[in-house]
Amino acid sequence: MTHRPHRPDFRSLDHVTGRLGGIAYGGDYNPEQWPEHVWAEDARLMREAGVNLVTVGVFSWSRIEPRPGTYEWGWLDRVLDLLHAHGIAVDLATPTAAPPPWFSRAHPQSLPETSAGNRLAPGSRQVFCPSSPDYARAADRLVRALAERYADHPAVVLWHVHNEWGNHNALCYCDTSAAAFRGWLRERHGTLEGLNSAWGTDFWSQRYGDWEEILPPRDTPAFGNPSQALDYRRFSSDALLARHRAETALLRELAPGTPVTTNLMGTLEKKVDGFAFAPECDLVSVDHYLTAADPDAHIGLALNADLARGMAGGRPWMLMEHSTSAVNWQPVNLAKQPGQMRRNSLTHLARGADAVMFFQWRQARAGAEKWHSAMLPHGGTSTRTWGEVTSLGDDLRVLAEVRGSTVAAEVALVFDWQAWWALELEARPSVHLRYLDVVRDWYQALWSTGVTCDVVPPGADLSRYRAVLVPSLYLTADEDAEALHTFVRSGGHLAVGCFSGVADVNDHVRLGGHPGAFRDLLGLVVDEYLPLREDEQVALSDGSTARLWAERVEPHGAQTRLRFAEGPDGGPAPGGAAVTRHAYGDGAAWYVATRPGPAVLRDVLAAVCRDAGAGPALAVPPGVEAVRRVKGSRSYLFLVNHGDRDATVVDVHGTGLLDGVRYDGPCTVAAGDVVVVRERGA
Ligand code: GAL
Repeated sequence: MTHRPHRPDFRSLDHVTGRLGGIAYGGDYNPEQWPEHVWAEDARLMREAGVNLVTVGVFSWSRIEPRPGTYEWGWLDRVLDLLHAHGIAVDLATPTAAPPPWFSRAHPQSLPETSAGNRLAPGSRQVFCPSSPDYARAADRLVRALAERYADHPAVVLWHVHNEWGNHNALCYCDTSAAAFRGWLRERHGTLEGLNSAWGTDFWSQRYGDWEEILPPRDTPAFGNPSQALDYRRFSSDALLARHRAETALLRELAPGTPVTTNLMGTLEKKVDGFAFAPECDLVSVDHYLTAADPDAHIGLALNADLARGMAGGRPWMLMEHSTSAVNWQPVNLAKQPGQMRRNSLTHLARGADAVMFFQWRQARAGAEKWHSAMLPHGGTSTRTWGEVTSLGDDLRVLAEVRGSTVAAEVALVFDWQAWWALELEARPSVHLRYLDVVRDWYQALWSTGVTCDVVPPGADLSRYRAVLVPSLYLTADEDAEALHTFVRSGGHLAVGCFSGVADVNDHVRLGGHPGAFRDLLGLVVDEYLPLREDEQVALSDGSTARLWAERVEPHGAQTRLRFAEGPDGGPAPGGAAVTRHAYGDGAAWYVATRPGPAVLRDVLAAVCRDAGAGPALAVPPGVEAVRRVKGSRSYLFLVNHGDRDATVVDVHGTGLLDGVRYDGPCTVAAGDVVVVRERGA
C-alpha cells in the first residue's frame, strides 16, 4: 500500500488567515524584477503598510529554471527567508503562466494557434497551447521541483497555482488541440453517431464518418457549426482544468500541509468556467478590476464578489488581485478617486472576502505593466496611494474580528458560463443581446433594492433561497430546468429573463413552443422572438421604455403585469405581454420578455422579493450599500456610501469598528465613507 500523507480539510480560509492572525493583506510581489538591495526596503515597507501576505513567483519561471532542468533557488530562498524574518507570509505561485524563451524555442509546436491558423509568438505570457504535452511535462517538472523545495518552508501558507488560467490562451486551434478535442469528444459523445446527432451534422452536409475528420471550429467561409463551437468552449475550459488538476495533485502530494488555490476571474473571464474550477481549489480566490469609465463600476464589483462567494459555496474567499488605482489595459486608464480603493476593498470584505490583495506590491519600472498602479507607486512613500495603502492596512487590522463570518442571502441569481457561451455564438436573433449585459441589468436592479444575493450555478441547491433570478439563461439542461420547477412548486419565487430556456445542452432548440424548458412553469408560449434595432426603443404600458428585445407572448395561465404599449410606439408586439406572473404550485414564476429600463426591472424584482418575503439587510438611502456578515451570534453591518453626499441610515445599533462610535438609531455615513458596525446583541 502506498503511504498517503494526511491532508487536512482546507476548505476554511482560517487555515491561512488564522496563521496571519487577521484579514490577509498584500499583493503580488515580483522581487526578481528588482536588484536585491531593494528587497530589504520592500520587507520593511510591507510591515509599515500592515501587509501580512504576498504572492511570490508568479512569473519567475525563467529565473528559477534558466536552462532546462537547471534550477536556481538561491534568490528565491533569500526572498522567502527575508519575508519570513519580517513576519510576512507567502502565497507561493507555480510560475507556469509564463514559459521562458528556451522552452518556446525548443518546442515551437507548443505555441498556441488562432482560429485563422496563426501561430502566436513568444515574448509575452501564457504563450502555450493548453493541450501541449511538452508544456505539461515541463510545467509538471517545475511544479514538482518547487513543491519539493518549499513544502516545509515556514513562510509558505498557501500555494497559488498558475495565474488566471486561460486569460490569454484558452482557445487554441492547433493540430495538438484538434487531437485532444477528438479525445474529449469521444468521452462526451461515445460514438460518432452520438456526436453527429448532438451536433446536428445533417445540416449543410457536415456528417462525420471518421473521428479524424473532426477539427476545432477554425475559421470557415460561412457560419460554423454552433454545437461544435459550444463543445469547443467546453473542451477548452476542461483542457485548462486538467492542467490545474495536474498541478494541484502534485502540490497536494508533495506539500500536504498547505492549501492550494488559483486566482479565478469571475465575470471578467468568459472562456473559463469558474464553477468547474472552484471545487478543485481548497480556497476560492478571485481577481477583480473595475471598468474605470463605468460610473456604476462598484455594482459590477459587488456582482463579482457575490459570484466569488457563490463559487466558494458561501464560505469566505480571497480577493487575490485588484488595483490600488489605474490599470494599464483599458482604453483610458482612469486613476481611482481618493477613497475609492478603500471603498472597493471594504465592499469585497462586506461580501465575504477575508483577504484584500492587489496586483501588485511595487510598481514596475520596466515591462508592459509599468503604467499599472501598485501598492508602492513609482513615487514611493510620499504618494497619495501609499498613504491610502497604509491606512487601509490599519482598517483591516481593526476589522480582523470579521474574519470567518459569512454573508447570509435569501435570494440567488443564477449565472452560467455555458449559457453565456451559447447565447453569444454566431447567427443568433440579435448580436446585441449580450449575456453579461443582461446579468448586469438584473444584478444592478436587485442591488438598488438593497437585497443581497448569492450568484450560483444552475445546478446549485436552491432550497435555502426564497427567490431565484434567472437572467437570459438561453441554454438550460433538463435537470436544471426541472430543479427550477421544483423550487417554485415548493413555494419559491422565480423571475426569468427574456430568451431563456430556449435551447438544450447541445444548442438544439427545444420544440413544442418557446421557451421549451419553462413554458409550463411560466404559463405562457412565446410565439416569436422579436429583437429590436440597436437604437430602437419601445414603450411599455406604464409609460416607461424598453430596448433591444421584444417577444410576442401568449399567456396560458400567466397574468400580464405590464404590456408593450398599444400602437406604433409599442414596437413589434403592440399590446402584448411584456412582464407576466404565473402562480405555479405553492410559488410563482415571473417572466420579463424584454430589456426594460432600470426602474421597471427594479420594481419587478422588488415585487418578486416582496412576494417571497426577502428583504434588504437594512433600508438605506440610494447610493448606500448595506451588507451583513454573520458569525454565530455576532453580526457585522457594512454601510458603504458611494455617493458624493453624506447619507443617514436609520436604525443602526452597535459599535462602529472603524470610528469607535456607538450607534443607537441614526448613523451618518459621510460621502465616500464606509462604516462597519458590530451590531448590538451580537
Ligand atoms: C491580471 C493578472 C496580473 C496583472 C493584472 C493587471 O489579469 O493576473 O498578473 O497582469 O491583471 O491588471
